[in-house]
Amino acid sequence: MKKIIVANWKCNPTTEEEAKNIFEGTKNSVTEATSEVVVCPPFVFLPILKGLVLGAQNCFYEEKGAFTGEVSGKMLKDLGVEYVIVGHSERRKYFGETDEIINQKIKKALESGLKVIFCVGETAEERGLNRKKEVLEAQIRQGTIGISAQGGPAFGWENIIIAYEPVWAIGTGDNCSIEETRDSIDFIKLFVPTGTRIIYGGSVTSENSGAYIKEAGADGLLVGGASLNAEEFVKIVLSAE
Ligand code: PGA
Repeated sequence: MKKIIVANWKCNPTTEEEAKNIFEGTKNSVTEATSEVVVCPPFVFLPILKGLVLGAQNCFYEEKGAFTGEVSGKMLKDLGVEYVIVGHSERRKYFGETDEIINQKIKKALESGLKVIFCVGETAEERGLNRKKEVLEAQIRQGTIGISAQGGPAFGWENIIIAYEPVWAIGTGDNCSIEETRDSIDFIKLFVPTGTRIIYGGSVTSENSGAYIKEAGADGLLVGGASLNAEEFVKIVLSAE
């Protein structure tokens, strides 16, 4: 199975020129990579970046209508976007996204023909209370209600990638240990169809990236901060080879 390395630019950068620079710097150096490289910039940059697989960082659960400020999966698909990140902890925390909303978004995204990078992960508090497994199971089960098993027609699991992102590891420099990541990935496998790709995210750098793939059993990486530096992101991509 092909590894997948995803760049999550979050709400960065602030100009078109910077976006093009990061994108071109990335594109020109990953042509030989055997992993699938996906760049998820803010919506506004999606139409101007060409030559790598693109993903969005969010999408709405209705196709169109009176929903001021929203962007639908159908619009993204029409633009040539292939992936969408759903359930990121920053959306859960700052925008009140519940498991139910995330489930609606995943179903609509799949129906629109997008592939979904579905983020799950425990907070520091939940980890401290030894509730990691309970949280992961609930997020996965509730987020995928109504989604057919692999091999099903539309809305299938075959187009879902699970991103294990411990919330305490995101943007903190405190990346999850290989042992703990392996434990989470093995646990997640109990709730997803065989063959579902499970990737890791949370303070990934070129120093630690290779070990997640080679030692923790991750099928890829979701990279935030480090993906804004093309040179560093390219090193991460190459570490998965
Ligand atoms: P980080 O973000 O790599 O900056 O920790 C990862 C993410 O939030 O997807």
